[in-house]
Amino acid sequence: MTEQMTQTLRHRSKAINYDNNYFADHGEANSLWSAFLSHHFQFCDNTEFMILYPGNIKLTETQTMRMRKKPNLLPRMESCERVLIKNTNETMDEWKKDCRQYKEIALELGCGKGSFTAGTAKVAPDTMLIAIEKVPNAMIVAMERVCEEGIANVRFIDMDAANLVQIFSENEVSRIYINFCDPWPANKHIKRRLTDAGFLKIYKGVLKPAGEIHFKTDNKDLFEFSLRQFSKEGFTLEEVTRDLHAQGVIGIMTDYEAKFHSQGVPICRCVAKLMDRR
Ligand SMILES: C[S@@+](CC[C@H](N)C(=O)[O-])C[C@H]1O[C@@H](n2cnc3c(N)ncnc32)[C@H](O)[C@@H]1O
Repeated sequence: MTEQMTQTLRHRSKAINYDNNYFADHGEANSLWSAFLSHHFQFCDNTEFMILYPGNIKLTETQTMRMRKKPNLLPRMESCERVLIKNTNETMDEWKKDCRQYKEIALELGCGKGSFTAGTAKVAPDTMLIAIEKVPNAMIVAMERVCEEGIANVRFIDMDAANLVQIFSENEVSRIYINFCDPWPANKHIKRRLTDAGFLKIYKGVLKPAGEIHFKTDNKDLFEFSLRQFSKEGFTLEEVTRDLHAQGVIGIMTDYEAKFHSQGVPICRCVAKLMDRR
């Protein structure tokens, strides 16, 4: 791999799913390059990507591409039916009844492979944790994990977080987790960031008063941007840190977080509390 290629890969912000392993661009350019060469890579939905040809770099326009569906995805989904909320009103109503036995509802946006989902649900059995993920190929791994571990208080919805208000009503949700969301570094894609003002307005439409957003990222620029957006949208900031694990591991790690932490990348975290709905 040429230095130029390595640099290019490092400077792209993206997540790639390759044989069920996520690769970010941090220090994993070699793995990415092998994946490209073997044509076994898959891109997450709506992820910026480029096409590389051995010997020459040829960048495409920014495009979106659906992740290839695994051939056995549907039967795997069906075998985890217990934890899946299908996107129909009828099923939603049933789920809402189920939910009343829990003290609180929390959401996790973009759960990926679900280490955090399972870990968080286990330590808070009084809370129903709804994991929202728009890429079913990632979500199925999380669903299988939750089913295998027999965790009762997790449900999954395969959808875009932009549609939250179609499912949850005002004052219904106590907490939202956003972990290592795609940073969408280009200015023209700001609105796709899950902490952009447009998304925060959606979250305000479902959060309770003093409801919380728990946000973690490895991306410093995204973190600073998000802090500004939270303040602008009436959230009070608490527990702000730019190196969460400086004194040893704190809290439940996500799959991405574990990988970044093992590479020595500092993790940023904050809690944004909804104090002014406006
Ligand atoms: C970089 S991965 C992080 C996964 C996991 N949170 C972790 O930390 O290991 C981001 C995940 O968010 C999902 N995602 C991105 N935008 C989304 C959206 N608008 N709605 C739902 N899921 C989204 C992606 O499909 C991907 O699985």
